[in-house]
Amino acid sequence: MAELDRRHLLAAPFALAVAGCGSTANNSPAPIPQPVPTEGLHALASQKGVAFGFAMGTGQFNDPRVREIAKLECGLIVCENEHKWPATEPAEGRFDFRAGDAIVAFAEQNRMAMRGHTLFWASPRWLPRWVTNYDLGSAPASKAASLITTHVQTVARHYGDRIPTWDAVNEAIDNDTGQLRDTVLSKPLGVQCVDIAFRAAREALPKAKLVYNDFMSWDAGRTAAAHRDGVLRLLEGMKARNVPVDALGIQGHIGGGGQPGSGGFGALDESAWRRFLDEARGMGLTFQITELDVQDRGLPAEVTTRDREVAAHTKAFLDMMLSYKEVDQVLTWGLVDHQSWVQSFFPRADGLPVRPLPYDANFQPKPMREAIAAAFRAAPAR
Ligand code: G3I
Repeated sequence: MAELDRRHLLAAPFALAVAGCGSTANNSPAPIPQPVPTEGLHALASQKGVAFGFAMGTGQFNDPRVREIAKLECGLIVCENEHKWPATEPAEGRFDFRAGDAIVAFAEQNRMAMRGHTLFWASPRWLPRWVTNYDLGSAPASKAASLITTHVQTVARHYGDRIPTWDAVNEAIDNDTGQLRDTVLSKPLGVQCVDIAFRAAREALPKAKLVYNDFMSWDAGRTAAAHRDGVLRLLEGMKARNVPVDALGIQGHIGGGGQPGSGGFGALDESAWRRFLDEARGMGLTFQITELDVQDRGLPAEVTTRDREVAAHTKAFLDMMLSYKEVDQVLTWGLVDHQSWVQSFFPRADGLPVRPLPYDANFQPKPMREAIAAAFRAAPAR
């Protein structure tokens, strides 16, 4: 659909909302009305050579309000959970693509690109139970390699060129220690489990952009530094072994350093973060911001203040990131606050709903949405 048509389609509901529907779905005070979006975020981003989108799960896909906002804002979609190993191969050799296929079809019908998340989430918590409990037998390394290769290639080939960018491996580095995470598959293979996933993906998808995706951050502190350092050492090793990694996925779950009652987002170490980015860029990697959202558990309860600070933090992060011309995609991890994973994973101490995303629980744009738009307007073209 042409951008103009999308705008006409959406102008009425947004205008009504801004005219003032008072209460919010979660009983928090009504936030300040935001301007009616006249130009979608992807349209703005693409003027600078960047694609914008967000993570859509089955719940959001089934919600017509989310689908309409997606058509206004997005040129890109990623499945929140539907392409992960537990979803696509719930038992050995039994593949199920129905949930992911529905979202991919929606993207295609609306001329949006897809990114894939993720062929191999190298974490003990998020592997399917059948993998974690697997008896690897007398040749554990070769069995582990074949489980990874079969899974990665079956999913990659199912979509082929329809998904041109994949998080080949997600979160392989322990965020406390900077070491490779221990899983049933890394025990016999060590870091080769990561290499095998990338090589299998490259064999199945010769033209795809293959991404290593992780949540290392610009937070200050020893563990954040260990995480950044561990990721760099992993990438450096992969480059030295000629593993086909093309890009670094910077998840961008920002604000996580803020603790209840701290009044903010926690201390940042921007110069260490820039050194991290510079070193990754020096390896020839491009960047994608794959899962942007803002944890507000350190912020005061009052919604107007919270929304303003979340927006300012988003703008500061995106301004800095978009100054790197290697960034070619920006995605938020969800669209509306009440459907965010942060509600249950990082709740506020005062029990109020968190507000980590660009749209509120009434599907109205928040200051964070305007901050993203402003960052795209200010970004240098690439
Ligand atoms: O689908 C089941 C449902 O049948 C069941 O009733 C319900 C009960 O808890 O659970 C549902 O599954 C949940 C699933 O999300 C779908 O909603 C899982 O419990 C829950 O653990 C799962 O969480 C997801 C998490 O990754 C683990 O896969 C979050 O939605 C998703 O936002 C989160 O996304 C990750 C990225 O993939 C990687 N980076 C960090 C990011 C945030 O944690």
